[in-house]
Amino acid sequence: MTQRTQKQYNGFLFVLEGIDGSGKTSACKELEKKLESVGYDVTYLREPTTESPWGKEMRERSPRGELTPEEELELFIKDREWHVVNRIRPALEDGRVVLLDRYFFATGAYQSTVMNLHWKEILRRNREDISAPEPDIIFILDVPAEMGLARATGRTGIANLQFERLDRLIKVRQAYLDIAMNDTGNFKIIDAKNPLDQVVDEIYDIITDTIIMSE
Ligand code: TMP
Repeated sequence: MTQRTQKQYNGFLFVLEGIDGSGKTSACKELEKKLESVGYDVTYLREPTTESPWGKEMRERSPRGELTPEEELELFIKDREWHVVNRIRPALEDGRVVLLDRYFFATGAYQSTVMNLHWKEILRRNREDISAPEPDIIFILDVPAEMGLARATGRTGIANLQFERLDRLIKVRQAYLDIAMNDTGNFKIIDAKNPLDQVVDEIYDIITDTIIMSE
């Protein structure tokens, strides 16, 4: 299902989402190089940010287990509001191709698995309360949770995997797929079990087709 609201800017917003270890950050870096090499003005951004006070607090305190799920949700949304106002909107208004490594779909997928809150309500808050712009396309880099965790931790043996984290990633993956099937955004599910260059080529072709078709 696709919901295209009238765009209020000249740029393009392409979002890469996926569970930990899905390869989205590596894919973004390669896409940035490839798109720049053919002349596009690309801005790579990621969330949580490393710039706003809320992004910094999140990156520092969350790994130490110091935040409740409710506090995390508030920090992700405050950080995103800062990001939209100070980085995302200015780049889009400047006509740039924005590659965004995680966005409010991550909040929907991750935070809904640890709170009694449906992803629909989380997405609604991002769209209505902070007016987060709608992406042109959201790519969901889909991998099985075992593969994501193995890649993220650099280990291959299932015996070494952290089962609590695995259980969470299974739920997050399911939530992403549920969002892609039932939300109004323009989603493309990418099989990220494939080698990185194949994943990058597939996304690159879709991005360049989208830009060319809108001209
Ligand atoms: P990263 O691995 O892409 O740097 O993201 C850091 C972690 O933050 C990752 O485990 C996913 C999590 N996260 C959320 O739980 N909610 C969010 O809204 C975002 C942006 C990230």
